[in-house]
Amino acid sequence: MLYRALRSLSSYLNKMVPEVVFVLGAPGAGKGTQCSLISKEYGFVHLSAGDLLREERQRPGSEYGEMIEQCIRNGEIVPVEVTCSLLHKAMQKSGQTRFLVDGFPRNKDNLEGWTREMADKTKLLFVLFFECSKDLCTERCLGRGAAGSGRSDDNLESLMKRFNTYLNDTMPIIEHYEKQGLVRKINAEVAPDQVFEEVKKAFNQCGLEKLNN
Ligand code: C5P
Ligand code: MG
Repeated sequence: MLYRALRSLSSYLNKMVPEVVFVLGAPGAGKGTQCSLISKEYGFVHLSAGDLLREERQRPGSEYGEMIEQCIRNGEIVPVEVTCSLLHKAMQKSGQTRFLVDGFPRNKDNLEGWTREMADKTKLLFVLFFECSKDLCTERCLGRGAAGSGRSDDNLESLMKRFNTYLNDTMPIIEHYEKQGLVRKINAEVAPDQVFEEVKKAFNQCGLEKLNN
């Protein structure tokens, strides 16, 4: 009797543990595009670390605004205390339990901060890694800038820096997760709907079901 009650309590609590998919890839690999498709089809809440930082930069009275802008222009990574706390707050505010954490963890500091603050409170399902050549990514970001993205880092100078950060700081994080068998590598050089077909395979393999709509 007690055993059964404890088991159902434990299964209830398990369902409450937020599930997370990290989404990584070079700037312009299509992380945001795919995340909106996933979020529509699988009901995950899309949390883009970059978007949250840009929002915080705009927030009147933010003590981090200037520092964030500096980092973004220079393609550098904001200290994890700021980013992790924005992610945590957004998770709580959503009241949901399944999250796509897009553009995070981007370096060792991000990874260590998450491990310290969030790893025990969440379950990492897998890491989606969108693979795309530097040339194609650059073309996409410059196109996005020319089309009026309004981003202060969609220019060639910032892009070169963002790429260096990606190669030097983010790739080792992807390798870290690869060793744990958690990376689902996706070819992101094809059209968005074709990329999404591959993404769906990763979600279906993990036993995640589509929403009924
Ligand atoms: O992912 P996105 O391209 O929107 O990120 C834009 C910029 O935001 C990055 O180049 C970086 O300066 C900042 N960022 C960060 N830490 C993250 C994600 C983004 O500092 N985890
Ligand atoms: Mg993005």
